[in-house]
Amino acid sequence: MVKTVRATQLELDTAVQALRDGELVVFPTETVYGLGAHAAHPAALRRVFELKGRPPTHPLIVHLDSQRFLPRWAREVPAAAHKLAERFWPGPLTLVLPRAPSVHPLVTGGQDTVAVRVPGHPMAQQLLTALGGGIAAPSANRFGRLSPTRAEHVRDEFGSAVRVILDGGECKLGLESTIVACLDGRVRLLRPGSITLSQLRRVVGEVLTDPSTAAPRVPGSETAHYAPATALSIVPADQIEDLAALLSQGGQRIAVLAQRPPLGTYQFVTWINAGTRLEAYAHDLYAHLRTLDKAGCARILVQAVPPEERWDAVRDRLRRAAASSATDAAAVADDSAAVGILP
Ligand code: TXA
Ligand code: MG
Repeated sequence: MVKTVRATQLELDTAVQALRDGELVVFPTETVYGLGAHAAHPAALRRVFELKGRPPTHPLIVHLDSQRFLPRWAREVPAAAHKLAERFWPGPLTLVLPRAPSVHPLVTGGQDTVAVRVPGHPMAQQLLTALGGGIAAPSANRFGRLSPTRAEHVRDEFGSAVRVILDGGECKLGLESTIVACLDGRVRLLRPGSITLSQLRRVVGEVLTDPSTAAPRVPGSETAHYAPATALSIVPADQIEDLAALLSQGGQRIAVLAQRPPLGTYQFVTWINAGTRLEAYAHDLYAHLRTLDKAGCARILVQAVPPEERWDAVRDRLRRAAASSATDAAAVADDSAAVGILP
C-alpha cells in the first residue's frame, strides 16, 4: 500500500486558493474524507449542501488546526470540553459547543450550537494551517450514503464535480468521529466513534447517552444513514452461512460480510472475511460495503459484531445501514423464519 500523507506546496496553494474562491476541496482526515468549504464563505457552504443533496437543517463540523481559533467559533468552552480537547485533539473527537455569534447559520443548521474538531491527519493539518481558518466539512459522500475512506471513493461518487481532491491515502480509522456535546453543564455522547464512552468517562466523569429532547439535533444520527444502495441485514454469527446458502439457492446473488471464512462453497455468494480485529474491521468497513454494493447482489448479509463496548461505533453504523433497508431486512427475516433459521 502506497501512503501519501503530506501534500506538496503546489497542492496546498491550489487547495487554499480554491477554498478562498468559494470552491470545495476534498481532504483526508484520520476518520473519513471530508468535503471542505471555507467555513466563513456562505456561497461555498451552500455548495456543500447542493453537492451532497443534504437538507440545509443538517449542521456541519468546523475543522480547525488547533484550539487557537476556537473562540471564533465557540462563545464558551466549558471545563469538560477543555479537558476532552486536551486529551483527544488532534484526533477523532468532535465537540458540540455554544456557537459564537458570527457563525453562519448554514454551519449550525440554525441551532445555537456549533460542532468543532481538530483532525490529526497530517494533510488535514497542513491544509488548515495554510488556510488559517476553519473548514466546514461533512463526510465527502452523497447524503445518507457510505462515507469515503479513500480518495477513489470520492472520485467514484462525485467525478469531476469536485476539482480539488487531496489524496492522503487510506483513512487510518475508517469511521466518523465520536461526537460529544458539552452544553448546559452536561456532557452527552451524540455519536459513537473510535473514542469510546469509557475513555470519555475517564476524562470527564459522567457522560450521558440518552437522546434527551433538550439535546442538540444530530441529523446524521437518524436511524437510517451510512447505507449502501443494496438492502443490508444484520444476521447472528451462527446463522449467516445457512441463510446465505438458502437465499442463494434460487440463483439470487448474495453478499456476505463476515468475521470468518465460509465453511462451504456457494456459487452465488460473494463472501468477504473482515476478520475479528476491531481496528482492521473499522478501517475497511466502508470499503468492503462499497465492494459488496457493486457486486450486483440482491442483498448484503452482515454478521452481527461482538457486543463489547469497543465495537459500539461499528455496531451503530451497521444498525443505521440496516435501518435504511428495513423493509428488506423484514423480508429476509420472513424468508429465514419460514425455514426455521431465524427466530
Ligand atoms: O469524522 C468526522 O466527523 C467526519 C470528518 C470529515 O471530520 N465528518 C463527518 O461529518 O462525519 P458529517 O457531516 O457527515 O457528520 C457530522 C455530524 C452530523 O450528524 C451532524 O448532524 C452533526 O455532526 N452535527 C454537526 N453540527 C452539530 C451541532 N451543532 N449539533 C449537533 N450535531 C451536529
Ligand atoms: Mg456523513
